[in-house]
Amino acid sequence: MNAEHHEHHAWAEPYKIKMVELLRMTTREERQRAIREAGYNTFLLRSEDVYIDLLTDSGTSAMSDRQWAGLMLGDEAYSGSRNFYNLQDAVREFYGYRYLVPTHQGRGAEHLMSKIMIRPGDYVPGNMYFTTTRLHQELAGGAFVDVIVDEAHHPASTHPFKGNVDLGKLDALVREVGAEHVPYISLEGCVNMAGGQPFSMANLRELNAYCREHGIPIMLDATRTIENAWFIRQREPGYADKSISEILREICDLTDGCTMSSKKDLLVNIGGFFACNDEQLFLKAQNMVVVYEGLHTYGGMAGRDMEAMAIGIHEAVMEDHQSARIGQVHYLGRKLLDAGIPIVKPIGSHAVFLDARSFLPHVDQDLFPAQTLAAELYIEAGIRSMERGNVSAGRDPQTGQNRHPKLELVRLTLPRRVYTQAHMDVVAEAVIDVYKRRETIGGLNMVYEPEYLRFFQARFTPHETSRGSGSHNDSHKRAEATPVPA
Ligand code: F0G
Repeated sequence: MNAEHHEHHAWAEPYKIKMVELLRMTTREERQRAIREAGYNTFLLRSEDVYIDLLTDSGTSAMSDRQWAGLMLGDEAYSGSRNFYNLQDAVREFYGYRYLVPTHQGRGAEHLMSKIMIRPGDYVPGNMYFTTTRLHQELAGGAFVDVIVDEAHHPASTHPFKGNVDLGKLDALVREVGAEHVPYISLEGCVNMAGGQPFSMANLRELNAYCREHGIPIMLDATRTIENAWFIRQREPGYADKSISEILREICDLTDGCTMSSKKDLLVNIGGFFACNDEQLFLKAQNMVVVYEGLHTYGGMAGRDMEAMAIGIHEAVMEDHQSARIGQVHYLGRKLLDAGIPIVKPIGSHAVFLDARSFLPHVDQDLFPAQTLAAELYIEAGIRSMERGNVSAGRDPQTGQNRHPKLELVRLTLPRRVYTQAHMDVVAEAVIDVYKRRETIGGLNMVYEPEYLRFFQARFTPHETSRGSGSHNDSHKRAEATPVPA
């Protein structure tokens, strides 16, 4: 294979398939019943009723034969498991943080960090929010403040680093409330809610200089930072010849610690951690983890899970893995762009995000266009996606009103190493078929609304009024809809 040929096929999978899981295809009638029973919420579908599952890339990736072999090396001691030390070594080598506190998954780490670092009345800036991250900040008495660049809120903006922090917005906050009320800035790689958009190293360097000057720590949400490193190598001048591991290390060295949902980048089905360089912070986290997660050498994971994660770190930083992973996402995204489907640009890291506002411009935001589109895509072809819009954004804790985010998206999220190019073709065809009949699609009413992270368990019914007649007039009433039990 000559170099040119290799480059041309750069995203072909760097593995072959050793074991398969059979899929079940359903009829349209079966799917219509299934989605009705699920309250038009794809989170409430049974996985058995799903053909191609693009709900999330979280915990859904395929482990390698080495990771499976690692499970057999689980040292299930209550304390001091050898797998913990293997994991600690891998985190120190690739992320570079000195101290590690394992947790059962990402939100476990967010819980610890929020409780330790945030005092009531504090403000926590972030480059857009993530649902669980913001909720833990709020439960700890803090208020989240969005400081991402404006471009991130515009699905059509092709800015190469829509995950960047707007230093002007950050500085305005710091001037208004004082640096002493900003316990840290939360910095996410490949910003999930923005469409999987990366930050640049130049932006992080500026942020680092600003935060040093004001004594504000930078806490990384490291969930998809390895994918962010890949984009820096592709797009940022001066990084084309650096390895993904070198770039990852450079990112982490400019930050003070991280929370991690290992279920994404790190190719495992469960796990997470908190890591940092400051000893006092570490001691607090190490002490708190025993209250909420488990002893500080397992934090809610089995020994075997920690071993699979340690191996996953080594596999995740491999160049050919990331080229294939992100290459597959871009393959799907380009197919949709070619067909004229409105998606978030540039195509991000872990998912293709349909722009539901442009897809269904006739559906009022309080009739949940993204939720509606996700349900339609399931009915069309058994493809499960996720709403990332008005339902996910929830209500403002001060006003109690729906937040009405600018981005009203449906996420087609690709698990790592799971589906093939032919599956991507099926997905593209299904989206195009739904697009062709978009005019016939109405909205949904929310009939059950849980208090926390409502998108996971909310239930809906089809909005009865025929399209165009009054989808605007009773949006206020809907916002006050009384929750009824499922
Ligand atoms: N941070 C980011 C950026 C995430 O995407 C997630 C999870 C978390 C934190 C929380 O981690 O699930 O391990 O507790 N995202 C999943 C998703 C749920 O589908 O995007 P967790």
